[in-house]
Amino acid sequence: MTAAPPTDGLALATRGLHKRYGSRVALAGLDLSVPSGVVYGFLGPNGAGKTTTMRLLTGLIHPDAGSIEVLGRPFGRRDRHRLFEVGAIIEAPAFYPYLSGRENLRALAATGAPTPRSRIEELLELVGLRDRAGDRVSGYSLGMKQRLGIAAALLSDPRLLLLDEPANGLDPAGIVAMRDTLRHLASRGKTVFISSHILAEIQQLADQAGIIASGRLVREGSIQALLASQGLVRVRVAAEEAGRAAAILEAFAGPGSVSASPGDDGWLTVRVDHGRAAAANRALAEAGIYASALESGNDLESIFLQLTGGEPSPGGEGTFTRMPDVDGPGPTAPGSGA
Ligand SMILES: Nc1ncnc2c1ncn2[C@@H]1O[C@H](COP(=O)(O)OP(=O)(O)OP(=O)(O)O)[C@@H](O)[C@H]1O
Ligand SMILES: [Mg+2]
Repeated sequence: MTAAPPTDGLALATRGLHKRYGSRVALAGLDLSVPSGVVYGFLGPNGAGKTTTMRLLTGLIHPDAGSIEVLGRPFGRRDRHRLFEVGAIIEAPAFYPYLSGRENLRALAATGAPTPRSRIEELLELVGLRDRAGDRVSGYSLGMKQRLGIAAALLSDPRLLLLDEPANGLDPAGIVAMRDTLRHLASRGKTVFISSHILAEIQQLADQAGIIASGRLVREGSIQALLASQGLVRVRVAAEEAGRAAAILEAFAGPGSVSASPGDDGWLTVRVDHGRAAAANRALAEAGIYASALESGNDLESIFLQLTGGEPSPGGEGTFTRMPDVDGPGPTAPGSGA
């Protein structure tokens, strides 16, 4: 058996966490390491064990085996009182429907440490609910309730925020606003642990990510490192040169690393680290083939699906950005053809 990695300096850590519901195993030895002051994306498909983990981390349920450390100290059965240091939204937050958003926050504040009224107004402003703060929650939309949930989770100014799929029900503007709020919190040294089953959401928001499948961690690390490990470079050459270009790129990047687009339009995709895009272009140029366009991107989506056992989405072949520095005046500029 290998020793569990140390937990020093982590805002949140789990070691060997096991949980079953009857005969169904939800977590099968989960090890998470969440550094302080980051936004950590907890990513996994439906049923992977995200909500179960969140419920364990907030003491709503207890593990069958394994340990949890919250803010540098063990978190056990008798430690729910420590949750004033932690803000959480697990599943749909419950509010009094006949009270307004503001009154709900006040009622909640009354149960904890003394909270100035100005703090409640600040939070309503932060989550974009100021204009509707006096309306009854029963008349709120799903996204408005979700925003109120985020305000409620922030009430005690926690050092650690646990959010289970907080983007559910938010419109695109709400997602952008939430992203700004969470990034702002991390910039003030708070740790944000946020679950999602949507890769793109986490990719845009988080510094670190942990990917789980069937109750186990399958990958953990910085988003940048995860992306770099799945680099893709696309080059466009004249269609009649595509065969020869593919052979050159394959010699450069390794067998099986090159695929041509089915459209026969001269686009070739090479699985190679972004840092080698210019070198790939040079290899072509040395053979007298000049790319008319070069893009670099990544395929975190395919790694996510591969790791979690899903199916690739139709047409999903990564996200790309153009590299203008290499996208020079080639002899076969796009759109200039006969
Ligand atoms: N109360 C429960 N009773 C029985 N089985 C449960 C219960 N809660 C969860 N499970 C099972 O545990 C596993 C993990 O569920 P969990 O809700 O943690 O997944 P999740 O990652 O949050 O999924 P989703 O993305 O759908 O929210 C699933 O197989 C689920 O069916
Ligand atoms: Mg869930």
